[in-house]
Amino acid sequence: VYKEREELFSLNKLAARFYNYLLTETNMGEKALKYLNDRGFTKKDINKFNLGYAADEWQLLLNFLKKKNFSLHLIKKAGLISEGKNNSYYDKFRNRVMFPIFNNRGEVIAFGGRILESEDNYGPKYLNSPETKIFSKKKNLYGLHLAKDSIRKANSCIIMEGYTDVIQAHKNGFENSIASLGTAFTEEQAKLIKRYAENAYIAYDADTAGNKATLRGLDILNELGINVKVIELEEGSDPDQLLKQEGPNVFNDYLEKAVSLIDFKINMIVKDKNLSEPGSRKKILRSIIELLSEVEDDLEREIYIERAALKTNFKENVLAQEVEKEFKKNR
Ligand code: GTP
Ligand code: MN
Ligand code: MN
Ligand code: MN
Ligand code: MN
Repeated sequence: VYKEREELFSLNKLAARFYNYLLTETNMGEKALKYLNDRGFTKKDINKFNLGYAADEWQLLLNFLKKKNFSLHLIKKAGLISEGKNNSYYDKFRNRVMFPIFNNRGEVIAFGGRILESEDNYGPKYLNSPETKIFSKKKNLYGLHLAKDSIRKANSCIIMEGYTDVIQAHKNGFENSIASLGTAFTEEQAKLIKRYAENAYIAYDADTAGNKATLRGLDILNELGINVKVIELEEGSDPDQLLKQEGPNVFNDYLEKAVSLIDFKINMIVKDKNLSEPGSRKKILRSIIELLSEVEDDLEREIYIERAALKTNFKENVLAQEVEKEFKKNR
């Protein structure tokens, strides 16, 4: 079993090199290279993250790996091929920009493949390797092998959603950035972060999925005793987009304005709601009272009551009364 893990590492390493070669050295990769360049990713970024291209062919990788004496059995176990009819196999990743996923020691454990934007393309935007003997999605963080020293030094990390966010962040000097491989942040990932830092920023996409994931991530990190804040971007934006359009200084302004767990939750309770219609106003206030009654520290509770009163334009003393009532009930 130990040997198989090692073999999977070397198979993935070779596959990553093959994809990288196709991207950077062949005509087949030209379209993908242009795509990455248009998005602002240069040779340097491509090298650093070992980006690649899976060609628009059915068995290019499969045949290459076979020629390098890897068994069909192992190539299957690596999740790089899919089974067709009559025991035939074909490359799982085709016509996609390839993002190798590394463990914290820098070994390639899986891949994410992004579809190229063109008329004749179909399928999900991103396709990921399946879970394998060496890849568990929920236990890994994209970019950690490159970010861990910076995370330790800064005693903080920035958690993003996607590959492109992380690459853009590193490019712009935020080298303590990592991604949670999609939006489902897990306790295992939080524990991994805790090995390196006591502080974390969540910088997920400012959309419904991102906000939902932020709420979950906040609780998981907070539960583990990690001091966590949220970087609130403009609706519809993500770190890659903001950094590309506005640059590192503007992103840093957002980072410095990052809000606490309670503030973010208050913002979410209030967001897109009707604050004047009595029925919905009552519901909003109830949710806020519920939330603030969970704040243990008296002074901190007081501070948030003041802010919530401002945000809802509600009488502070009445809000305080209700929160204290609820707080005592919880004891
Ligand atoms: P770009 O569109 O290239 O800028 O990527 P993005 O990172 O902004 O994409 P998005 O916010 O949609 O997704 C964030 C991350 O979630 C991606 O980097 C992937 O890891 C994951 N993801 C997104 N879409 C899919 C999908 O269709 N399938 C799977 N398995 N994962 C996805
Ligand atoms: Mn997203
Ligand atoms: Mn995004
Ligand atoms: Mn994006
Ligand atoms: Mn008190």
